[in-house]
Amino acid sequence: MKCVVATHPGGPEVLASTETELPDLEQGEIRVAVEIAGVNYWDVMQRKGLVPLPPSHIPGVEGAGTIIDMAADVSDFTLGDRVAWSKIQGSYAELVQGPAQFFMPIPHSVPSEIAAAALMQGTTAWYLAHQCAPINVGDTVVVFAAAGGVGQLLTQLLVERGARVIAVVGSHAKTSIPLALGAAAVCIDSDQLVEEVRSVAPEGAHLVFDANGGLQALRDVQMLKTHGTVVYFGAAAGPLPAIDLELLSAGSLAVRRVRGKDYIGDSASWRAAASEIMNRIEDGRLQIQLDSRVPLPDAARQHERIESRASTGKLLVDVAPVTL
Ligand SMILES: NC(=O)c1ccc[n+]([C@@H]2O[C@H](COP(=O)([O-])OP(=O)(O)OC[C@H]3O[C@@H](n4cnc5c(N)ncnc54)[C@H](OP(=O)(O)O)[C@@H]3O)[C@@H](O)[C@H]2O)c1
Repeated sequence: MKCVVATHPGGPEVLASTETELPDLEQGEIRVAVEIAGVNYWDVMQRKGLVPLPPSHIPGVEGAGTIIDMAADVSDFTLGDRVAWSKIQGSYAELVQGPAQFFMPIPHSVPSEIAAAALMQGTTAWYLAHQCAPINVGDTVVVFAAAGGVGQLLTQLLVERGARVIAVVGSHAKTSIPLALGAAAVCIDSDQLVEEVRSVAPEGAHLVFDANGGLQALRDVQMLKTHGTVVYFGAAAGPLPAIDLELLSAGSLAVRRVRGKDYIGDSASWRAAASEIMNRIEDGRLQIQLDSRVPLPDAARQHERIESRASTGKLLVDVAPVTL
C-alpha cells in the first residue's frame, strides 16, 4: 500500500511517500481502505519526535474509510461498512487495521470528510468538557486555540453545557469563529492576555483550558477566580514550565495536566465519547469546520499549515476515493 512515513524526527520535510505492507489480521481486527485521514497536532508531535512513532513510522491516528476485510471472529460489522476512527496509528496510508471496537460506524447522513474530521479532536473535546472538572451553568471558562480543531468543538460543548466561554485566539483573523460558535467574548493572545481576560471577566474564570503550553503557561493561574482550575492539555507552543505550588495559594487554585489515555484510552470509554460526538454531528448540534484538504503525498503541507497558526478547524488528507 502507498503511505507517508517520518523515518526520523524533523520538520514537515521529513514526511516522505513510500510503499509498505500490513501484517495479517489478528483476532478481533478489521482492515479498512482509507478514504480520508484527519490531521491533528498530535501528528506534528510524533513527527518532531516528541511523542514516539511506532516501528511503521506512519503518522496519523484518524480517518474514515470502508471495511475490506475482517477477522473471522468479528461480528459487529459487515464488509463494505463505512467507519471512522481516531486511535489507529498509521492512518496516512491506503489501508489501516486494528481492533474492531476502536472503529465507529458512520451514519448515512454524515459525509466521510466530516466523519474523518470528527473523532480525535471530538473525543478530546468531549472528555475535557465532561470529565476533567465540574462545570456549572453560568461558569466562566477560558478556551485557548478556540478557532482550532479541538478548540472549536470544546467551545461548542461548553456552550451546550451552559458555560460562558471566553475564547483565546492567536490573531484578529480568527476572532469571528468562536463568537459564531457561541463564545461570549474573544481575546487575542498577547503579553496582555491576563488583563484582556480580566477585562471581560473581572471576577476571574472558574476554568481555563490551555492547549498551547509553553513558557507563558503559568500566566493562566492569574486568570482564575477563587477555587478555579487550569487544565493543561497541549504543548503546541512548547513544553510546560515547572510550577511553584505557592502560586496556587492566591485563591485555593488547582492545576491539572491531562492526557487522553486516562479518560478515553480504553475502547468502552472511547466509544462512549465517539458516540456522543457522532450523534451531535448527525443531529446538527455540533458543527465541524473544514480548513483544507490535500492529496496523501502532500501531507507535509498540512503539517506546515497547522504549525503556522493559520489554520482554522480541520485539516484533512485525501487518500483514495471509495471504490466499492
Ligand atoms: N491531551 C489530549 O488528550 C490532547 C488530544 C488532542 C490534542 N491535544 C492538544 O490540543 C491542541 C490542539 O490540537 P489540534 O489538533 O486541535 O490543533 P489546532 O488547535 O487545530 O492547531 C494548533 C493551534 O495551536 C495554537 N498555537 C499556539 N501556539 C502555537 C505554536 N507556537 N505553534 C503552533 N500552534 C500554536 C494555534 O492557535 P492560535 O494561533 O489561535 O493560538 C494553532 O492553530 C494541541 O496542543 C494538541 O497537542 C491534546
